[in-house]
Amino acid sequence: MASLTVRQLDDKLKRLLRLRAARNGRSVEEEIRIILRGAAEETGLEALDMIEPPNQGSAKQTTRPEPRSDAKRVLLIIGGGIAAYKSLDLIRRFKERGVAVRAIMTKAAREFITPLSVGALVGESAFTDLFDPESEFDVGHIRLARECDLVVVAPATADLMAKMANGHADDLASAVLLATDKKILLAPAMNPRMWENHATKRNLAQLIADGVTTVGPNAGEMAERNEAGTGRMAEPLEIIAAAEALLANANGALAGQRVLITSGPTHEPIDPVRYIANRSSGKQGHAIAAAAAAAGADVTLISGPVNVPDPKGVTIIKVESARDMLDAVESALPADIAIFAAAVADWRVANAGEQKIKKTGAGAPQMSLVENPDILSTIAHLKSKRPKLVIGFAAETEKVVENAKAKLARKGCDWILANDVSPASGVMGGDINTIHLVSKDGVEDWPPQSKDEVASMLIKRITATIGE
Ligand code: CTP
Repeated sequence: MASLTVRQLDDKLKRLLRLRAARNGRSVEEEIRIILRGAAEETGLEALDMIEPPNQGSAKQTTRPEPRSDAKRVLLIIGGGIAAYKSLDLIRRFKERGVAVRAIMTKAAREFITPLSVGALVGESAFTDLFDPESEFDVGHIRLARECDLVVVAPATADLMAKMANGHADDLASAVLLATDKKILLAPAMNPRMWENHATKRNLAQLIADGVTTVGPNAGEMAERNEAGTGRMAEPLEIIAAAEALLANANGALAGQRVLITSGPTHEPIDPVRYIANRSSGKQGHAIAAAAAAAGADVTLISGPVNVPDPKGVTIIKVESARDMLDAVESALPADIAIFAAAVADWRVANAGEQKIKKTGAGAPQMSLVENPDILSTIAHLKSKRPKLVIGFAAETEKVVENAKAKLARKGCDWILANDVSPASGVMGGDINTIHLVSKDGVEDWPPQSKDEVASMLIKRITATIGE
């Protein structure tokens, strides 16, 4: 037998070790531990004591620090954009909170920040290539996709979103995104015109329909000179808050359920500067979205213009008019549960002006109104894609329960939460709500309570019904 040099022997042993680890579905590090543990048992020597602790400071190290056994694990996919520098801060903040982070960098991301800096912060090398035999044998893209509690994509570029929406898998990031069965949180970041582009909007709608959660983008100045608009990546702390909400609730009572919620008023344009609206604050719909997310649901909140803060861990689609709201709701299907809390304007101006209507001296302008689509009724009457539980509200100023029963039948939904919105009740814009839950089984009178309490009672009620 030809003799091997020490170098050749070393290479051969490493190859065998990787193969053995891959066959056993373990990392090389785990495989070494198992071999040494076996050796220690056989020889009585404390072989494990001889393993050097991982070198925390080096970005090149291939062993990784053992996270606490109860630590949450985030797989961070860093896309190529100027916002990539913020993902370094994001890693630091995850680690401060005891979250274990692994990082994948796309080729474009490496044009903005280096694998060295990412690796140094993460505590192990950043993964970069789909066909890198070293990391494929050590971890492999399928294990990367599965061995985490949450996948965070930050920054999520237009290109990465397009790849995800279309199921591409031609690099490590997209292959992992296709292979994962975990929740995905996207923090989009791109030029405002790219964000507004129809193709990006189509891809976003598809991703939301696929159950992906988004945080941001925010409005503001862009890196490019004289560019401003919506497209800035959410700040690291906003991404952390959204991620924590998703991580905390992974085992909640509504985990795995997709919940679609409408909230707030709609604005129906009269001309580019004036509109018809109503007094809805969005408090109730937003409180329901927060409660559903806290119960672990994948929540898509479609909101008209409101001044209440965005609930955490929820995908929010902001719309203006009833027709926009219907489009957004239809794009967000399928869903398991749909809750229509928005106070949708029943009518819009048929002949809304494209320019500001001027005073001409010839008297007030004539406006004719046409009826808006009824979003609740449209979804409740769907033949396919009808959510299994469709819930509406009934805003009434008189004969609350009687009108709600008629609405339940007319709109074809499963439950109506009826409330008195007469000015004396203070419900519109106020904090207290008195609900009567009307279903085919009868009427339940709930006590007067805060909108947050109504939201959590509704989520409990839904959880009980789904459990049945
Ligand atoms: N709704 C809707 N689309 C509309 C109007 C209402 O989705 N164009 C939904 C609301 O979100 C709510 C329910 O229908 O869940 C009832 O809304 P409400 O304003 O009480 O009833 P209307 O259908 O507008 O009937 P009316 O104004 O005659 O009481």
